[in-house]
Amino acid sequence: MTRTKHNAKELAKVLSFARFLIWCVLHLHIEGTLDAELLLQLAKKYKVKLKWKTVAQIRAAYQFSSLDEFLALYYQGCNVLRDYDDFYTLTLRYLTRAARANVRHVEMFVDPQTHTNRGIELAMVIEAMADAALEAQRQFGMTTLLIPCLLRDHPIESGMDTVESILDIRQRDKRFKNWIVALGLDSSEANYPPKLFKRHFQRAKEAGLLLTAHAGEEGPPAYIRQAMKVLGVNRLDHAKRCLEDRKLVAELRRTQMPITNCPWSSLRLGVVNKLADYRLDTFLDEGLCSSIHTDDPAYFGAYEWQTLEACVETFGLTMDDLFQLSINSIVGSFASKARKIELKAEAYAGAARGFQHIQL
Ligand code: ADE
Ligand code: ZN
Repeated sequence: MTRTKHNAKELAKVLSFARFLIWCVLHLHIEGTLDAELLLQLAKKYKVKLKWKTVAQIRAAYQFSSLDEFLALYYQGCNVLRDYDDFYTLTLRYLTRAARANVRHVEMFVDPQTHTNRGIELAMVIEAMADAALEAQRQFGMTTLLIPCLLRDHPIESGMDTVESILDIRQRDKRFKNWIVALGLDSSEANYPPKLFKRHFQRAKEAGLLLTAHAGEEGPPAYIRQAMKVLGVNRLDHAKRCLEDRKLVAELRRTQMPITNCPWSSLRLGVVNKLADYRLDTFLDEGLCSSIHTDDPAYFGAYEWQTLEACVETFGLTMDDLFQLSINSIVGSFASKARKIELKAEAYAGAARGFQHIQL
């Protein structure tokens, strides 16, 4: 399908329709929501010396030319996340913001090793996030799930210990049994192929977790295949580079493997030089189960709405495209069948209101 760039009037119309749609967030690192204000506040609390003194200085410093360059700063930021209140505040702050963008369901990534390596107790981190999630459900009727991720550039054995800790926490407290829904894989991708984590993912699957992995963000299409064939993932994160391999695209279409695209993140990490090069329109035209996400919104300077706006503008997304992206975010989620039915009903009702609105 050929899409043309919207003129100002069309753009305003599509965006006002978009305001009525609902979204599921499927690719969001909770540590990547640590905004400059909260970073300064927590640095003060713990007397951590930062290179920057103001919000403006921090924002100006967030310029990256690669995933690894970003990760260095991201892990440094994590150092101010220490106690229950920090994780509770971080989580509720993000969920509150997401609720304002019509997000109705959030699946949050957390990186356990980033915290346990500093002597922070994983159970405390999860408890704080769960309490914040409960508050978001109470205030906004928003549902959440948690996806702990293994850091692929950390020792294999540390990954295995992390899987066991997650399973132990999940078993010990019945609140977490279904809430901790999946295992993920993230951090530096180059030279860390998914197959290194075959045992970890097998163990998690046997214990009843679903599986997802970052693959094809910077890494080659072969890493996407490995995530599917060796790890047996239920969903793919990024998978941007699948477009380099026709056969892979055909398989992703046939299987309707959910893909969590993060176009703005890829722009900010230098994976693409301009947003148009991300080719989100191709993902849609190929009939892939693609949805749009923010990854680390505080670091990349775009939350849900800004990301959507940029994509509508750059790719000339239509109202049909937006509705499809909204539905894909529901279909691709790890929510229960019953919750997916509720979300779909909300999506259809929202779209109907949106159409009525733009007719006026
Ligand atoms: N951890 C946080 N953000 C990430 C990203 N974009 N890719 C891999 N690991 C991450
Ligand atoms: Zn990510």
